[in-house]
Amino acid sequence: MTNDDRTLALNTGALIPRVGLGVWQAPRGAATRSAVATALSLGYRHVDTARIYGNEADVGAAIRESGLRRDEVFVTTKLWNDDQGYDRALRAFDQSLERMGLDYVDLYLLHWPVAGRRLESWRALEKLFAEKRARAIGVSNFLVPHLRELLDHAKVLPAADQVEVTPFLQQRETRALCAERGIVVEAYSPLTRGRKLGHPTVVGVAARVGRSPAQVLLRWGLQRGMVVLPKSTHAGRIAENAALWDFTLDDGALAELDALEEGLVTGWDPRDQD
Ligand SMILES: NC(=O)c1ccc[n+]([C@@H]2O[C@H](COP(=O)([O-])OP(=O)(O)OC[C@H]3O[C@@H](n4cnc5c(N)ncnc54)[C@H](OP(=O)(O)O)[C@@H]3O)[C@@H](O)[C@H]2O)c1
Repeated sequence: MTNDDRTLALNTGALIPRVGLGVWQAPRGAATRSAVATALSLGYRHVDTARIYGNEADVGAAIRESGLRRDEVFVTTKLWNDDQGYDRALRAFDQSLERMGLDYVDLYLLHWPVAGRRLESWRALEKLFAEKRARAIGVSNFLVPHLRELLDHAKVLPAADQVEVTPFLQQRETRALCAERGIVVEAYSPLTRGRKLGHPTVVGVAARVGRSPAQVLLRWGLQRGMVVLPKSTHAGRIAENAALWDFTLDDGALAELDALEEGLVTGWDPRDQD
């Protein structure tokens, strides 16, 4: 892999585009449809939704209306916590596909490592994978203990782990285990949900490379080997967040960003999940 590879190979052989549009908190209806349509028209080929975001139908509609072939867009959705368990998971998957108006997803994730149910849920995902209705299956918010347990029990290894990763929360142990086991790491909330865009180091690097703080955080994620999933519903920012391929961060800039680790969790914290 080089810094400029626009896709990563999953352990299924499929390619995942390294910049995906996130749609958490994109309001259902016109706002989500228009964000996805804008992103696709700007060249994004990857959209990350979830049942709990409430906008799967809008994501599906925008993809269907885009004029792109289904196999040109990588679509991820996720199994919500109250749908975990074998039978419930299978039902929830059917409902997600129905809402999206699609007959498969490219990646289906366990949204959270729900204690006592995650292994059973994983068996359901393995069935969906065997049926090719989920072309790849993976997890989200799984840290090392959750991953080790799953790796001990799974027949199909997860293709991806979607976790919060930024220079301020680097998840080094989780990323190391994923690298060792060929699991792609997807960085969620890669812009720190806006909280660190004004950090002096980020702003300083941005000034040096002539890019925005958001682009610096995303480029760090790419150069550290991840998929990044920035969310915006504004066309200008959607464009900015994908304009990442014509500049690089040099070793000095990467080292400055690597030094920002402070355990900053902006959302959910899976460290407390048994
Ligand atoms: N698996 C999980 O548990 C999980 C958890 C959280 C997130 N995610 C995924 O990751 C995606 C992204 O994470 P996120 O939504 O939490 O946060 P994020 O992408 O880090 O930040 C989004 C925030 O930054 C703003 N923004 C976007 N681009 C910007 C730019 N270029 N300059 C300045 N501000 C900008 C957005 O505002 P506007 O929209 O107003 O532009 C929004 O307020 C989610 O949408 C979801 O798909 C997954």
